[in-house]
Amino acid sequence: MQFKNLFQPIRIGNLEVRNRTVMGPTATHFENEDGSFTQRGIDHYAARAKGGAGIIIIGCVTVDTRARYFCSSPCAWDDKYIPNWNQMADAIHEGGAKLFPQLMHPGPIDPRPGICVNASRVPVPTLMPEVWGDPKELTVAEIEQIIDDFGEAARRMREAGCDGVEFHMAHGAYALTASFVSPILNKRTDEYGGTIEGRMKFPLECIKAIKAKAGEDFPIIVRVSGEELDPYSRTLRETFYVVDMLEKAGVAAIEVSGGSCPAGGWRVTPVNGLPMAINADAAEEVKKRTKLPVLAVGNIRTPEMGDYLIESGAADMVVYSRGFIADPEWPNKAAGGRLDDIMVCCGCVGCNVLLNNGKHIGCTINTDCGKERADTAIIPAENSKNVMIIGAGPAGLEAARVARLRGHDVTIVEKSGKLGGQFNIAAVSPSKQSLTMLVKYFANQMKKLGVKIELNTEATPEFIAQRKPDAVIVATGAQPLIPKSIPGYDKENVTTAWDVLSSEKIIGPCENVAVIGGGAIGCEIAEYLAGRFTRPFTKGRITVTVVEMLDHLAHGLDFGTMAHHADLLGEYGVNVHLSSIVKEIKDDGLVFEKNGKDHILTGIDTVILAMGSKPYDTLSEKLREIVPEVHVIGDAKQAQTALEATYAGAEAGRLV
Ligand SMILES: Cc1cc2nc3c(=O)[nH]c(=O)nc-3n(C[C@H](O)[C@H](O)[C@H](O)COP(=O)(O)O)c2cc1C
Repeated sequence: MQFKNLFQPIRIGNLEVRNRTVMGPTATHFENEDGSFTQRGIDHYAARAKGGAGIIIIGCVTVDTRARYFCSSPCAWDDKYIPNWNQMADAIHEGGAKLFPQLMHPGPIDPRPGICVNASRVPVPTLMPEVWGDPKELTVAEIEQIIDDFGEAARRMREAGCDGVEFHMAHGAYALTASFVSPILNKRTDEYGGTIEGRMKFPLECIKAIKAKAGEDFPIIVRVSGEELDPYSRTLRETFYVVDMLEKAGVAAIEVSGGSCPAGGWRVTPVNGLPMAINADAAEEVKKRTKLPVLAVGNIRTPEMGDYLIESGAADMVVYSRGFIADPEWPNKAAGGRLDDIMVCCGCVGCNVLLNNGKHIGCTINTDCGKERADTAIIPAENSKNVMIIGAGPAGLEAARVARLRGHDVTIVEKSGKLGGQFNIAAVSPSKQSLTMLVKYFANQMKKLGVKIELNTEATPEFIAQRKPDAVIVATGAQPLIPKSIPGYDKENVTTAWDVLSSEKIIGPCENVAVIGGGAIGCEIAEYLAGRFTRPFTKGRITVTVVEMLDHLAHGLDFGTMAHHADLLGEYGVNVHLSSIVKEIKDDGLVFEKNGKDHILTGIDTVILAMGSKPYDTLSEKLREIVPEVHVIGDAKQAQTALEATYAGAEAGRLV
């Protein structure tokens, strides 16, 4: 069999697991207000069990009566939750996987006053003060209560039929336990602080309580950050010692993650552009020093890579978090050799953006995420129609896939010579290569499903009328926003981020550049120009200045990506002016207003507009008179994120 390492069984404690794949803890927000799972939540996990996962870890299950992670998370703090967990366990066991709830206490990440607690009252420097609150230092009596809470929660999980628990001790200020271990966050002078032995006392006592209440043989996986990456935080060397203590405490396995909060936050869920298998080196080093099975997590995207990590001795099991959001069935597809059908996570972090905004998760490549019930599945159309889709960006491609699966005859007409639309431009940024995975997946699916594709073809109303389609889906995308209200917008020295990334219009010597707009694209173009990637092609380093009207960069992204952009721009020496409104573009610079005062940037040879985009739809009005059914979707309707675009595509494919 292909992937013979990945599909070997393994023992975690006394538990036999069918293969080496693990669905990592990924908070979903598929819970009711009271912290029990909705049917949708149960279906979500059941689909991943049926899809071949060895172990499913359910993220951030809180053990405290009041504290909730992101103010919404599954709960295990009362016996009343046992029947609901039992339903979950049955659903997961039916699919052949094992269930490990990840027990945690959110500590400083539940910002509500009185509930927000930590080892010490050290504020967490963060981009999201609404998420991390001002923590109260726990008393010893409160610590002892929480230790008991961990034990009781584990007992409930065992009674509910779970196969073990994961103890969350990674990622610094993301949870109470890791905060206790952190030298940055734990400044206690009692027995729970001081040396690493003192800082480990709280987690070790929690583990003891779990064993006492749930049984010695109830396996515990501990999630640790190999390296925390904040200045002055824990390094790999200290992690070896921590793992040794955990092994002696009788845990069953170690999961090696990386990063922490605040500074290493972008490493926790590796943002686009970070290396694949980012924590595998740390896992490999840990594995050399323990007899316990070691799990590696972080940017492991393909079955090939997972198989290699096991074969090469870096890990015993491989954890895919976003990988399982993107494709619930990837292990079965891999085992069956259906590699082209695997929806590989393209790293857009759309799932995290939704979660950060208090919504339930979704996925750009897997628009069925959250729709795992049979009654929400794609159903055949009553009448097969001739459907023409104009535009082969993510929205058009997903519309084509769903419409074709429903039995329609589907043709995509695309003006350019390629599938992928704006993804082809977005992927040019050094950090965004993984977006090509989505385009590649769709290209394969179009071929397999028999969607007809006409490239280099302009779909005029006359062209469309001649073809007589039953329905047209207009997915013609967007155009960059040109701020005509700014004097000088049409000067020779002005171009757009899209034109630079697509190499359409790179003007002037491009040595001293001003970027107007510090959103995602503005940050990316600044990194593209100021970063090392462009230096070989220029005489020297490009000087870049970003002017942004908001008081922060990369608005609308998840906080890990926001922090990463801020770090990169700092590293590349990009000048940033926030809360600054551009008033005029001049031949050699621009004028912007900040705090009621005008400022002038001079010596600029190129001004790049990165001010967002606006819908591009020149067809729909004309088509309504000649085609019975017209849908306008994606950016053509309203400029939006890639995730929103594919969801709009899926919806149109179901409607048509
Ligand atoms: C939507 C989302 C939710 C997550 N929720 C949790 C969680 O509840 N607990 C946790 O320890 N990590 C959580 N993580 C981090 C993942 O478990 C994982 O460590 C990280 O995403 C890297 O793995 P990946 O590259 O396979 O996604 C979450 C990540 C994402 C994207």
